[in-house]
Amino acid sequence: MSMSKLSFEADGAIAVIRFDSPPVNSLGHEMRRALVDGIERANGEPGIEAIVLIGSGAGFSGGADIREFGTPKAAAPPDLLAVLREIESSPKPVIAAIGGVCMGGGLEMALACHYRVGTPGARIALPEVKLGLLPGAGGTQRLPRLLGVEPALNMIVSGATVASEKLRDSPLFDAFGDDLLETALSFARRVVAERRGPKRVRDLAIAMPNAEAYLQFARNTVKAVAGPYPAPLACVDAVAAATLLPFDEGLKRERELFIRLMLSPESAALRHVFQAERAASHIHDVPGDLPARPIRKVGVIGAGTMGGGITMSFINAGLPVVLLEMKQEALDRGLAAIRRNYQGALRKGTLNEATLAQRLALITPTLDDGLLRDVDLVIEAVFESMDVKRQVFEKLDAVVRPGAILASNTSALNLDTIANFTRRPQDVIGLHFFSPANVMRLLEVVRGAKTGKDVLATVMRLAKAIGKVAVVSGVCDGFIGNRMLARYGAAAHDLIMAGALPQQVDAALQEFGMAMGPFRVGDLAGLDIGWASRKRRAAEFPDRDFSNVADVLCEAGRFGQKTGAGWYRYESGSRQPIPDPQVGAIIEEYRRRKGVVAREVGAREIVERCIYALINEGARIVEDGTAQRASDIDLVYLNGYGFPAYRGGPMFYADQTGLGDIVRALRRIAAVPGADSAFWTPAPLLTRLAQQGKTFNEPKGSA
Ligand SMILES: NC(=O)c1ccc[n+]([C@@H]2O[C@H](COP(=O)([O-])OP(=O)(O)OC[C@H]3O[C@@H](n4cnc5c(N)ncnc54)[C@H](O)[C@@H]3O)[C@@H](O)[C@H]2O)c1
Repeated sequence: MSMSKLSFEADGAIAVIRFDSPPVNSLGHEMRRALVDGIERANGEPGIEAIVLIGSGAGFSGGADIREFGTPKAAAPPDLLAVLREIESSPKPVIAAIGGVCMGGGLEMALACHYRVGTPGARIALPEVKLGLLPGAGGTQRLPRLLGVEPALNMIVSGATVASEKLRDSPLFDAFGDDLLETALSFARRVVAERRGPKRVRDLAIAMPNAEAYLQFARNTVKAVAGPYPAPLACVDAVAAATLLPFDEGLKRERELFIRLMLSPESAALRHVFQAERAASHIHDVPGDLPARPIRKVGVIGAGTMGGGITMSFINAGLPVVLLEMKQEALDRGLAAIRRNYQGALRKGTLNEATLAQRLALITPTLDDGLLRDVDLVIEAVFESMDVKRQVFEKLDAVVRPGAILASNTSALNLDTIANFTRRPQDVIGLHFFSPANVMRLLEVVRGAKTGKDVLATVMRLAKAIGKVAVVSGVCDGFIGNRMLARYGAAAHDLIMAGALPQQVDAALQEFGMAMGPFRVGDLAGLDIGWASRKRRAAEFPDRDFSNVADVLCEAGRFGQKTGAGWYRYESGSRQPIPDPQVGAIIEEYRRRKGVVAREVGAREIVERCIYALINEGARIVEDGTAQRASDIDLVYLNGYGFPAYRGGPMFYADQTGLGDIVRALRRIAAVPGADSAFWTPAPLLTRLAQQGKTFNEPKGSA
């Protein structure tokens, strides 16, 4: 009998089966076998009259074992449905004692038990929809029978976590108490004494007079918010089956819907992202248990756009920040901007004045760099110039205590050069936040040649604490995200040269799912930034051509939204881009000057060129080790660049599309006269994987 995942004890006539599979008693294969064995054993022992299932550690059970996803173990018998059948059909009453986490398959198991007792602080949810799925082990059939159709559907469609206190008086719980085991045991004794026997949720009738009308209403509401995802509507269909069909037929319907979702690209993408986020925090040569340096106090240098947002990220997590500026006006301006950024949350009521005051009190604004002496981490967000960075890092080296981490938020400067401005390059790291830094989840952690492993371990942990998705990048021009973006931007520009208009390119990419097309993004960020950098590079490399249609726009004073005109025009006070015939004329004239004859460019070609440019550069980034794994690149694009989550990121999208198709398309583009064939030639890694019939993200369990 495989009982290692749980313990079995008798307390008088009550068998107590306690799960012991940290961290969350997930329902992996061994656990499922042990559960069936445990139930059988309890039923076989003559002295036992009732069975209590109870968790340990973090709680009851967090549901399916994600490590088994996509492996044969996930479906190895007994599967979860079989386990629940065993529990439900037990002739001796089974009582679930619910504390801590009780989610997904864990909650479905509790619903298959005959009675449920709870304790305060338990977190109850069916979160499957967040992975593009629905609860596939009877959850959609049993929860409506127990809680009623509407509350059950709300939980299933939203995946939201509900506190057990909110449900204590609902039919979910037969008893509720502070001491969970005691509550369960005394309830079990009562069940035995009163000879109540098993009470099965499946036998409960759903009495809902207006079921059809309500379900139609629910369908309409859900459809309006589900976007491209099929799962929320499938949840409604499954609950409709619970309402309208006998239990076993409903269960069958739930299974069909579940399998269909499991095979959907949207769910595959969401599950990929879920796994990618877990993988990203592992650095191949940094042991997971390497002690981190304590970070109790942070210094931020520069209270501009980025410094302000970075400060907010830390104070939101309760960390005190010393905020250093050069001039009082700049400091005042920065602090005012921080306050202004909180106004929205105050208005919406997601933040109250008292909490805000507490947070703002964590900031020590100063012009005195001496106050940085005792910080544990300092992040500079000063002007993007090597001279300024040199001054700042030499100063930090002189002032900040030994052992503190010195970080730069630079977007484009060489981190190794910066690290060597100090006598402690092992303590220097890049922390590349994205704008607005208090909102964007992405944090590129730039690992210098000499960055210490414990420094990496520390910032990865810190990133989690401040709610960021951290991805490690090597040092290169643009790191992971902007290096790929440069290729994407060049592809978009090529399309303009070939005959497309900015609004066509943006529309095609937005139809693909990008949050915003590249030309709208350009207008938002300001075209003058790129213009200045092209001028700098042209001076640096006089024999290369950096020219761009945007140069002509800038020469005409069109810098984007801030000047009311860029790739589009804007009515005053509005951010709504309006296609502008003048831009069409500028582009036409520019093509003429370059001797280009415009042709028809279709939406499909636009998407192919721009997205495949990302993929091809992504392949090089994996191959040269700038990124540790393809899924890290996906996280960068999903969290920092508006790539649609339902496509799983550019590298996952490549896998789904088929690498062979991508290689063929790239070769076709590379062969077009005038194309930058050095770039468009498929990256060696991409070609190799395609030849071997492999993917960037190897499916789990195939190894
Ligand atoms: N703006 C973005 O979208 C973005 C995104 C990622 C990274 N970055 C990087 O972040 C850094 C800052 O960018 P920003 O947009 O916040 O610039 P910004 O011009 O808005 O702010 C820079 C601030 O630093 C202050 N400063 C300059 N030198 C200083 C010094 N020696 N000591 C103290 N304060 C000093 C300035 O007074 C100014 O307030 C740059 O390296 C930039 O490349 C910017």
